[in-house]
Amino acid sequence: MEQYDVLVVGSGGTGQRAALEAAHQKGLRVAVVTKIYPTRSATAMAQGGINACLNNVAKEDTVETHIFDTVKGSDYLGDQDAIEYFISRCPEGVQEMDYFGAPFSRTDENKIAQRNFGGQSYPRTCYSADKTGHVIEHTLYEQCLKQGVHFLEEWYLLDIIKDAEGKVAGIVAWNMKEGRVEKIATKALVIATGGAGRMYWTRTTNPYTSTGDGIAACFRAGCAIKDPEMMQFHPTGLGKTGILMSEAVRGEGGYLLNNKGERFMKKYAPNKMELASRDVVAKAIELEIAAGRGFNGKGLDAYVVAELRHLPKETILEKLHGIRDLAITFEHADPLVQPIPIRPTCHYTMGGVDVTDYKTAGTVIPGLFVAGEASCVSLHGANRLGGNSLADAVVMGKVAGEGAIGYVKENTGADLDETAKLLDEAAANWDKKFVEVTSRTNGRPVVEIRDDMANTMWNKVGIFRDEKRMTEALDELNKLIEEYKTCFVGDTNRTFNMAFINYVEIGSMLTYAKAVVMGALRRKESRGSHIREDFEKRDDQNFLNHTLITLGKDGEYEVGQRDVVITRFEPQERTY
Ligand code: FUM
Repeated sequence: MEQYDVLVVGSGGTGQRAALEAAHQKGLRVAVVTKIYPTRSATAMAQGGINACLNNVAKEDTVETHIFDTVKGSDYLGDQDAIEYFISRCPEGVQEMDYFGAPFSRTDENKIAQRNFGGQSYPRTCYSADKTGHVIEHTLYEQCLKQGVHFLEEWYLLDIIKDAEGKVAGIVAWNMKEGRVEKIATKALVIATGGAGRMYWTRTTNPYTSTGDGIAACFRAGCAIKDPEMMQFHPTGLGKTGILMSEAVRGEGGYLLNNKGERFMKKYAPNKMELASRDVVAKAIELEIAAGRGFNGKGLDAYVVAELRHLPKETILEKLHGIRDLAITFEHADPLVQPIPIRPTCHYTMGGVDVTDYKTAGTVIPGLFVAGEASCVSLHGANRLGGNSLADAVVMGKVAGEGAIGYVKENTGADLDETAKLLDEAAANWDKKFVEVTSRTNGRPVVEIRDDMANTMWNKVGIFRDEKRMTEALDELNKLIEEYKTCFVGDTNRTFNMAFINYVEIGSMLTYAKAVVMGALRRKESRGSHIREDFEKRDDQNFLNHTLITLGKDGEYEVGQRDVVITRFEPQERTY
């Protein structure tokens, strides 16, 4: 049995920032469990930037304005006390990354460069060309290694284990290299496993690893899932693949055109145009396509285009070179000479594990802290501002690290003998399950179940939603969940059995997908990214509240709600 004081699951920006904070405390044993090599986490794919009011470009920007932009962007579903706490810490969060050595692009005065991003009043998105997440991820990894954080790579979270009092005792994880279950005791546990965007399979910006493992494990352990219906669709995924084409493209002056050559955003957001909030731009693109003003018909292959050819060549080559490479590779279109086909794509899980104390990232389970995309605090409400997710990672990652330190100082953790027994039992159960599941010779192939789930989610719980299609989706998901129980995995090997890992991941995605549909059915209104064709208006009277989904004793999902925290900003109609 491994033993730590603070164990972090997930090695993206959030997880590594949490681990780094804990490792700064002398004497604490800190480890990160990660299913992939640490620098390959989803954070490394974040492109355009990280928000903080630094006044390097816009002297008139204020933290207050950033708070308001975030509340407005959330379509008033974000909790305003938590947003204020978070946004006030963003400048320090970015400055710390600068100090740790992240190579940010610079202004002529050698300050961190800042660009425009959607839904924001001023250029406050700090960036490193179009590879901001990549440099943050690598910088944090260097710092973690320097501080002696122990990385347990290619270990995959199976379950969270609690003691008889209900507090965190440890986890069991699958060691992919050795093909066995590992037992890890810990006093405090930070879950930072990212989102579940792969539910939408190929039409997502997310890596293959964004499968909601940590969210599902917390749900089984007793946490609620908050606001799962709030999935963000990024307006500009590459047409064929859904790969991210950063908002930086529009921030640097690129614009969108329909098949008539019109800058159609003038109809939908006359002031902010292409730099309206993401929900507004994504909806506009889909409406243009539905009205026959896209290219290539109206079906799944339809698209509109992003135009960059009017930009100075140096802007593309120096600030958007990653985007150019992706467009050339995946669309055979060079933005220097051709417009780029784009269409919305699933990008970010705005719901997640219900964090009940935003000052520590704590949950209802003592010793369990959750941060970043796996969590719902709620900082992003119904629509996250571009650039607020890397900020969430570094700010709330640190907060979770501090929360874990505070907990370890005041609590001795679970009894070790009891923990050893609990971990032995859980490990034996998972080992039995491995043998049973992988040696099955019949059943529906698990990848077919995954494909059906993705089609259901895209077609029936995608950008536009209604009662009829979502009720069908719920039936389809329930059927898939039944089929999953006896599905065919087809590989009995123990070492690097990726079929088994996929099997567990698909289970996590089904868990979250069902929560998404149930949350979306409950919310009979349109708010932010949740666009219902049968309830077109926002309804503050009945839905200025969060969806909470918990797992009942009989395994049924129970749906509840909690009021949104409003402090300074009364909800108004949103225009851009
Ligand atoms: O468009 C982008 O570069 C994505 C940024 C984000 O989601 O924060």
